[in-house]
Amino acid sequence: MTTSFSTIGFIGTGAITDAMVRGLMADPPAAARILVSPRNAETAARLAADFAAVEIAPDNQAIVDAADMVVLAIRPQVAADVVRGLRFRPGQSVVSLVAAVDRETVQSWIGTPVRLTQAIPLPFVARRSGATAIFPPDDQAAQLFAAIGTPVECTTRDEYQLLAAASALMATYFGIMDETVRWLGAKGLPDAAARTYVSTLFSDLSVSARETDMPSFAELSRDYATKGGLNEQAHADFRRHGGAAALTAALDRVLARIKGEPF
Ligand SMILES: NC(=O)c1ccc[n+]([C@@H]2O[C@H](COP(=O)([O-])OP(=O)(O)OC[C@H]3O[C@@H](n4cnc5c(N)ncnc54)[C@H](OP(=O)(O)O)[C@@H]3O)[C@@H](O)[C@H]2O)c1
Repeated sequence: MTTSFSTIGFIGTGAITDAMVRGLMADPPAAARILVSPRNAETAARLAADFAAVEIAPDNQAIVDAADMVVLAIRPQVAADVVRGLRFRPGQSVVSLVAAVDRETVQSWIGTPVRLTQAIPLPFVARRSGATAIFPPDDQAAQLFAAIGTPVECTTRDEYQLLAAASALMATYFGIMDETVRWLGAKGLPDAAARTYVSTLFSDLSVSARETDMPSFAELSRDYATKGGLNEQAHADFRRHGGAAALTAALDRVLARIKGEPF
């Protein structure tokens, strides 16, 4: 698949830019030319070394000047200062990845009215997989993220913020795996066996969740729990000891933070 962009520019060359560029440059490439900012120097140098179409721009303004589409991939803490210092073209396509900062705020930093979309690409875009939430719906942004996974266009800010909250569960997912591997290790299982077993178990469970035709995950959960069996017992204990409550409380607090409310 190709995009309609000849030049895509990234302000901020960190983890998510690395993933997006690797996805875009996979075979067949989905962008003719990619400009990345000199920071982080190491990541930028690696991308430029790996792909002939990736160039390191001298500074952020050179990226905005040359790019058809600009991707803002800097951390929220520095985003206002970085973006306020740049001059964009009226109507230029800009995709903001900056977490927990709404579109109106980013537009106010930019000043000039631009075609501004927010998006939440996940690291899986590096292998052209995974869902990317986009708000508001935008053909160009959808085309960009269709090249490196599956865009999910949100029609309201509330929908987008809910998906942003759900995307904050990645570390918890791996955290559950880590706790399990550590528990197995503490009980005497060699680490390699524990990791192989747990990663394969979770991978197969995720595939089952994706492919199920059951109307809810609650039914899937019941389907995997023999009446009076070990899975039923573990799930009941998890809920009784506050596992489910901890999960929803974490989501509530993340959502409040995303909405700019006290959390
Ligand atoms: N990682 C994800 O999965 C993910 C997913 C969706 C959205 N996001 C959002 O995307 C943004 C970037 O996340 P990330 O994980 O890629 O963060 P990151 O790895 O910390 O990358 C941010 C990069 O910005 C660079 N930077 C700092 N100041 C700069 C400046 N003045 N000009 C240009 N670059 C500058 C940093 O360079 P130095 O290392 O030299 O300081 C760093 O390499 C965040 O707002 C995050 O919330 C991330």
